[in-house]
Amino acid sequence: MNQQMETILMVNNLTKHYACGHKAVDNVSFSIRKGECLGVTGESGSGKSTLARCLLLLETIDQGEIQLHHQQISRLNKQEARLHWRKLQAVFQNPAAALNPKLKIIDSLMEPLDFSKKVVQDGGQNRIRTAEHLLVMVGLSSHLLDRYPHELSGGQQQRVLIARAISTQPDVIIFDEPTASLDVISQANILSLLKDLQDHLGMSYLFISHDLAAVHFLSHRIMVMKDGRIADHFEKEELFSEKRQPYTKKLLQVFES
Ligand SMILES: Nc1ncnc2c1ncn2[C@@H]1O[C@H](COP(=O)(O)OP(=O)(O)O)[C@@H](O)[C@H]1O
Ligand SMILES: [Mg+2]
Repeated sequence: MNQQMETILMVNNLTKHYACGHKAVDNVSFSIRKGECLGVTGESGSGKSTLARCLLLLETIDQGEIQLHHQQISRLNKQEARLHWRKLQAVFQNPAAALNPKLKIIDSLMEPLDFSKKVVQDGGQNRIRTAEHLLVMVGLSSHLLDRYPHELSGGQQQRVLIARAISTQPDVIIFDEPTASLDVISQANILSLLKDLQDHLGMSYLFISHDLAAVHFLSHRIMVMKDGRIADHFEKEELFSEKRQPYTKKLLQVFES
């Protein structure tokens, strides 16, 4: 990874308490460069999803700042936040829950572009072509456009959601456990797809997974979270280095077993 690459996302001293006073994210700082995949791992409850939700402005933050392209986004109003969501997309764990069961695949897929009215209204042909192109990019047949979510497998549903995430050409995509609900074969296929898409499109990823092997496969840099804090942060090549924190070494034992 080229160290000179432009910084796309910068997070400084981010802290998020829940009402009980518990610090789910505690003074976290990091940045992501253009075309880079930052992997975030750590055991359940370590604050990974809360971090993702803060970046997506789904949670209010208590302290710190978030900059996308050097623009402070942590205190945007609703209208500004809409523009922000085009630049920062997300894919979550459970694809069935993320797709509206009453909408055909084409309508779920095209939601962000329909919303931004980017696609020229020419009797729908251009919209269909765009949708077909997006499905092909994620390795799906365009015949699926007229189907409903329950007619697709979990892996196919997640591919649709990945296609939807890339449709707005975002700067960063946040993946929160994107393969956790899938069978082992689908998991491997989705990880390969994410790697190929990143190689071709040059987007930045924040890839969250409790699965260190998946994080190691996809990421350029890895951050380990524990109790809301960053317990370790290193280049992927240094995962097996003696310099790793004891907690990372403990996670590694599980990875290697
Ligand atoms: N909405 C919420 N209200 C109160 N506590 C929460 C809420 N969401 C998460 N937490 C707590 O915050 C901590 C971090 O949770 P989470 O971000 O979901 O971790 P992870 O994604 O790493 O499993 C946990 O202790 C969890 O119980
Ligand atoms: Mg989580």
